Amino acid sequence: MKFFIDTANLEEIRRAKDYGMVDGVTTNPTLLAREGGDWRKQAQAICKEVEGPVSLEVIGKTADEMIHEAHELVKYGPNVVIKIPMLMEGMKAVRQLRELGIDTNVTVVFSPSQALLAAKAGASYVSPFIGRLDGLSQDGMTLVDQIVRIYDNYGFDTEVLVASVRHPMHIVEAALIGADVATIPFKVVMELAKHPMTDKGIEAFDRDWEKAFGKA
Ligand code: G3P
Repeated sequence: MKFFIDTANLEEIRRAKDYGMVDGVTTNPTLLAREGGDWRKQAQAICKEVEGPVSLEVIGKTADEMIHEAHELVKYGPNVVIKIPMLMEGMKAVRQLRELGIDTNVTVVFSPSQALLAAKAGASYVSPFIGRLDGLSQDGMTLVDQIVRIYDNYGFDTEVLVASVRHPMHIVEAALIGADVATIPFKVVMELAKHPMTDKGIEAFDRDWEKAFGKA
């Protein structure tokens, strides 16, 4: 399973990279706005910082606007993936960008029918927002399972990129289902390592060592 980091914060990207946990990055308008300053410079710096794919989202709502923005964004680096909102105009843009050899990530996806459209249009990635579905008392992971099954049934090459991740169990469940990628907030990457028995185990080893041999 590939780990993308869901952030526009360079410090978080660098720290996750040090742990070997960055196969790519996803940003969105909210995450870039949160960083403040010049979003173009920030996006370019992110593209330089990582080797893997970096999703940058378009703001336009017509296919022409999205394609125009995409042509600008791909200049930021060879690893740019154009994030396209789930709209029928977006599907038109995805199809045309695919013909141009430009990778796309269809985002703000909340249903299997939307994911089917994204794959048929030729998206490189589809991003189901599971945490936001859970927040509506629906089951985000059921959506991931449905998309993986539909893509397997027909051999679509669109990768399932689990987004809107809230906690480590989202990652574990997505991995069990066989999702290709999870885009993870830095905080959740750190939480993946935690287990109280691990802490207790290390403490006990340190105590026993100190008793026998003195402080390390
Ligand atoms: O980047 C897309 C998605 O992961 C956003 O998640 O936390 O705003 O629901 P969130």
